[in-house]
Amino acid sequence: MLIGIPKEIKNHEYRVGATPDSVYLFVKEGHTVYVQMGAGVRIGFSDEMYKAAGGTIVPTAEKVYEAEMVLKVKEPQTSEYPLLREGQILFCFLHLAPERGLTTHLVAKKVVGIAFETVSDPQGRLPLLTPMSEVAGKIAIQVGATALQMVHGGKGVLLGGVPGVAPAKITVIGGGVVGTQAARVAIGMGAEVAILEKRLSRLRELDDFFGCQLTTLYATPRSIEEAVLTSDMVVGAVLVPGKLAPKLITEQMVKKMSQGSVIVDVAIDQGGCSETSRVTNFSDPTYIMHQVVHYCVANMPGGCARTSTQALTNAVLPYALSIANLGYKKALKADQGLLEGLNVCLGHVTHQHVAEGTGFAHTPAAEFIHE
Ligand SMILES: NC(=O)c1ccc[n+]([C@@H]2O[C@H](COP(=O)([O-])OP(=O)(O)OC[C@H]3O[C@@H](n4cnc5c(N)ncnc54)[C@H](O)[C@@H]3O)[C@@H](O)[C@H]2O)c1
Repeated sequence: MLIGIPKEIKNHEYRVGATPDSVYLFVKEGHTVYVQMGAGVRIGFSDEMYKAAGGTIVPTAEKVYEAEMVLKVKEPQTSEYPLLREGQILFCFLHLAPERGLTTHLVAKKVVGIAFETVSDPQGRLPLLTPMSEVAGKIAIQVGATALQMVHGGKGVLLGGVPGVAPAKITVIGGGVVGTQAARVAIGMGAEVAILEKRLSRLRELDDFFGCQLTTLYATPRSIEEAVLTSDMVVGAVLVPGKLAPKLITEQMVKKMSQGSVIVDVAIDQGGCSETSRVTNFSDPTYIMHQVVHYCVANMPGGCARTSTQALTNAVLPYALSIANLGYKKALKADQGLLEGLNVCLGHVTHQHVAEGTGFAHTPAAEFIHE
């Protein structure tokens, strides 16, 4: 199969759809890979590295989009729409449910759009979203530690303390992927850490895993308030799939937090779990409200684009190889979880949530996997 790896053009997007290692594996299986010139250069993957891996460096996006499968990171941007072709496989993050405009284009172009974010595994987890949550969870503590410094409006507390001085107190709300990775880093830096979670089974797993290094607390409005008011840093890491994040931290609570405390609201991409959160970006990542520093960047993994690319491509590669080796119909037929990734196909919307979100009729994905 001819596979195309374009350079991402979304603002400040430095991730890339395949590393030189991925390209090597595609080529080893007999595929041809077009890599757009400079696609990975900003994160240390030079054109020479892709060439050495067996890729073909092409000068333009037009050439990359000659491919049967375009493997990228972000959804196509407006200037990429004309490059899409009927029957072309587009494998990337699509986030179509709130995007009727993009969905309309993909339907009109009759592409086969497989969205990273809806591919699932046999346990019902989302294996292509998990690596980004792992990265975001770890970044949360790094950025929170910086925000706690005086120069950023923080209260001047060092996470791990020093001999004779208590460490910082960190509360993580939500004990899923983001929360667990945030806790790992926070504990590793010597902070005093508590996770609040509403699933008791998850609290048990966390307790087994971290032992007495972590305090696990059942999340109720009262336990959340008590933890938030006594913390130096609060990490918002809740998710109710397909819904806006619940506002678990009220403005009243934030007003009562001590001056220079920090809220890192990772759940901001779902609206945030604090009433005081509003989206920020890398150019101006924090703001202060009620004397509390807020960090609310909605695409945190982009900040560590090299690690994120490696983590994402590790997870994506087996699926992309299966599509390349078998063709999309056989690959989707062989893996129910990958089939759930099919969002649009040959002029139809094939994912229930996307159909509901955009007002298109829903055609079951299973109708498109017959040879
Ligand atoms: N800002 C970013 O760049 C970025 C990057 C990755 C993920 N995220 C977001 O981070 C959030 C967490 O993602 P995740 O992958 O860890 O999800 P996850 O599903 O693995 O974990 C979420 C956890 O929140 C818990 N939860 C739900 N409601 C709760 C409540 N009322 N009280 C306490 N716990 C509750 C769930 O039981 C679950 O364990 C999501 O909103 C996700 O979109 C943001």
